[in-house]
Amino acid sequence: SRPISLSDLKQMKENKEKFTCLTSYDATFTHVMNQAGVETILIGDSLGMVIQGQDSTLPVTIEDMCYHTAAVKRGNTNAFILADMSFMTYNSTEHALENAGKLMQAGANMVKIEGAAWLKDIIKALSDRGIPVCAHLGLTPQFVNKLGGYKVQGKGQQAADLLLADSLALVAAGADILLYECIPSELGKTLTEAVPVPTIGIGAGPHTDGQVLVMHDMLGANIGKRPRFVKNFLTNGRSIQEAFEAYVYEVKNQQFPAPEHGFKS
Ligand code: KIV
Ligand code: NA
Repeated sequence: SRPISLSDLKQMKENKEKFTCLTSYDATFTHVMNQAGVETILIGDSLGMVIQGQDSTLPVTIEDMCYHTAAVKRGNTNAFILADMSFMTYNSTEHALENAGKLMQAGANMVKIEGAAWLKDIIKALSDRGIPVCAHLGLTPQFVNKLGGYKVQGKGQQAADLLLADSLALVAAGADILLYECIPSELGKTLTEAVPVPTIGIGAGPHTDGQVLVMHDMLGANIGKRPRFVKNFLTNGRSIQEAFEAYVYEVKNQQFPAPEHGFKS
């Protein structure tokens, strides 16, 4: 079968069919995810934490991202591949174009950048040159020092209205997917209904078009406290492939995320 494309994901939103995303950083796990039917794979800069043992995503370089993107690409046959642009690799339009080009040449089908309305010009420039962009909003881990920790975002009417305005502005600039991290479940619903492009959520409730989790977290392997939105799928004597299959099943059937994995307004 041919790999999943951006048009397939847009069609799934139209059809109200949920889709899955997991992070992967190497060829073998990518292959197993393909076998389990995971539609999209993200080479997240979370690799700074889960692979490198850093205490944030800030130390990750574009070379690190390209190395892991190339490894995922070699193991992939079916999934749509998103790759994160790491901290300080999209400071200007020119800088963003150069670094996004590297990720696309390493095998990405789309790049992801963190921010808000200020990303508009960068998104337009990338999009105009054939580079699809996912904008990551809400809790943006590259901003941890500014946010003062990993906290739920978009609480209260004013913050919710701002997130909606930013989302619409970024779609108008050319963003093809919006990813929301740690926002109230109700807001995840409002935003998903308001934008014409697919949304992906992590800690954003059950209503986003797609769901994403860090692979290590959903296999029950984590250093420190497990975030509220994480579920361990490597239970009941499952193999790793069966854990990925259970995740796909539960997302498609809207069993995951459950209310206890979400946040209130
Ligand atoms: O880096 C990452 O893994 C991510 C996801 C958690 C969305 O950005
Ligand atoms: Na990331």
